[in-house]
Amino acid sequence: MRYSEEVMDHFQNPRNVGVIKDADGVGKIGNPVCGDTTTLYIKVKDNRIHDIKFQTLGCGAAIASASMVSEMAKGKTLEEAMDISSSQIVEKLGGLPEKKVHCSNLGAEALHKAIENYRAKQRGEEREADRKMLRDKEFMCPKCNDPLSESALFCRSCQIDLELCEECGKPKKKGKDCPYCGSTKGEV
Ligand code: FES
Repeated sequence: MRYSEEVMDHFQNPRNVGVIKDADGVGKIGNPVCGDTTTLYIKVKDNRIHDIKFQTLGCGAAIASASMVSEMAKGKTLEEAMDISSSQIVEKLGGLPEKKVHCSNLGAEALHKAIENYRAKQRGEEREADRKMLRDKEFMCPKCNDPLSESALFCRSCQIDLELCEECGKPKKKGKDCPYCGSTKGEV
């Protein structure tokens, strides 16, 4: 099996190896067939991947792919990084032997998972901010306009369950469209 010079270079001198202890997002992915794993850590600043590190327990092709994806993703916006695919990694590596092409999936999928993990954390933080706003401010029931109590996710007057709209953070009837922004997404 012959590897390209690029693969050998990234395998023997992998870039961005390590752990980011205070990572904003972490993605871990394993190959169920061979048991190899890649864990990828990202730091995000102004919607760009500011720093990236990875650890791969696996074959040379998996290590080279993770190293390559770390270089490709660094400095990119989250949207651009989400678009990085296994086939682009293989292309940048100057190709992989057919049997090893699947190894490139670990790098791409770990990157995508790390971004998803970052976004999920962000949403969690935003929801916490919404809850805080609800605690600090007086909100109205979208049905009867009575002020909601501190616990807020239930209107005593109408006896209806409410949830915070995932889009605008205001209380809406559970499972219904938000009367403020029209979104159907809710998250208690
Ligand atoms: Fe498992 Fe390459 S053989 S990732």
